[in-house]
Amino acid sequence: MSSLFDRHKAVIPDWVALYYRDPIEITHGEGRHVWDAEGRRYLDFFGGILTTMTAHALPEVTKAVAEQAGRIIHSSTLYLNRPMVELAERIAGLSGIPDARVFFTTSGTEANDTALLLATAYRRSNQILAMRNSYHGRSFSTVGITGNRAWSPTSLSPLQTLYVHGGVRNRGPYAQYDDQRFVEACVADLEDLLGHTRDVAALIAEPVQGVGGFTSPPDGLYAAFRRVLDRHGILWIADEVQTGWGRTGDHFWGWQAHGQAGPPDILTFAKGIGNGMSVGGVVARAEIMNCIDANSISTFGGSPITMAAGLANLSYLLEHDLQGNARRVGGLLLERVRAAAAGVDAVREVRGRGLMIGLELTEPGTDRADPEAASAVLEAARERGLLIGKGGGHNTSTLRVAPPLSLTVAEAEEGAAILEEALGVL
Ligand SMILES: Cc1ncc(COP(=O)(O)O)c(C=O)c1O
Repeated sequence: MSSLFDRHKAVIPDWVALYYRDPIEITHGEGRHVWDAEGRRYLDFFGGILTTMTAHALPEVTKAVAEQAGRIIHSSTLYLNRPMVELAERIAGLSGIPDARVFFTTSGTEANDTALLLATAYRRSNQILAMRNSYHGRSFSTVGITGNRAWSPTSLSPLQTLYVHGGVRNRGPYAQYDDQRFVEACVADLEDLLGHTRDVAALIAEPVQGVGGFTSPPDGLYAAFRRVLDRHGILWIADEVQTGWGRTGDHFWGWQAHGQAGPPDILTFAKGIGNGMSVGGVVARAEIMNCIDANSISTFGGSPITMAAGLANLSYLLEHDLQGNARRVGGLLLERVRAAAAGVDAVREVRGRGLMIGLELTEPGTDRADPEAASAVLEAARERGLLIGKGGGHNTSTLRVAPPLSLTVAEAEEGAAILEEALGVL
């Protein structure tokens, strides 16, 4: 009998990447831990790509899913759906967007695709501004606004995309500037770019770039961008797929680090809200959301079972102040990771906010990305019982640390100690 890995390779596309030389099958989880098929236990500091937001096997979510499954799993958007309306009400209230409407999808990709449909229809333009090093999903429309070559398999696109500076603070032509000059240079570049275009529909940006390696501009950049965009009537789409729900600790939404701008025109979310159930969505004020003058549905979007999970998960998050926990325990973890990385020449930068922490690795003494070093640390961490992730626009050489938001102090200390040992292999 061939191994599961062999069977995977025989039937799953080559471009669905697996972590580790000897990939693991995760069979169950509890809290911040998961177990593989051989019974080994790991501290999970990646949460299935920032998606197990509260905890594995959280009883409140499991119960809500089981109870809803026992009543009805699916009815479609053709019928009134109480859990969907309830979750929409709560998200509309939390979004900060006035007169908000919420449309549920099954993924972040589909949420961003919907945001693009809304913005292009509203503005009657297919021109989009996106950030360099961005990631917004895997569909034909979203790879066209993904400024990270490793994740954008084609340059063919229904959109005309212009890439803007600013998402990456420590690389590119403005990296050597202080924060204020960095922001001024990015804004000047945006102004210049707009001088060569007409009728751009929207700017889409992740407040902290996720796949791009947890990079972000100085706080306030998007507020400064907003002032320029407003003069041109250009919409601002905040992709909160990774940064939403308090993950960054300081804020409930990533856009709030640029709070002077007020809420975005369109906000997209996915990943954490369903704690693993496929929930994504778009929030926009009614005028924008309702500009579509044809029917549109998502058969599975907003299904009762995923909405029940989302409601239970969101309630747990708010009742246990997991944003506050992300700020407190994330702050401690960042300190510990900084200390662990202090003597390691290959670590070019440790950065982060809340429970979104990145370690960028380069060949010592240079700016050259070192993906082999990142893979070596990933393997070494796993051998010692810690799962982390990778990312970064520069050949995937940033380690990503993003545990569930209920992480305890003891787990943060334990994970940082393992990471320190793993960095020792470099
Ligand atoms: C910022 C961001 N937007 C969109 C997506 C796409 O979400 P999904 O994989 O659910 O389609 C991702 C996924 O990693 C993401 O990180």
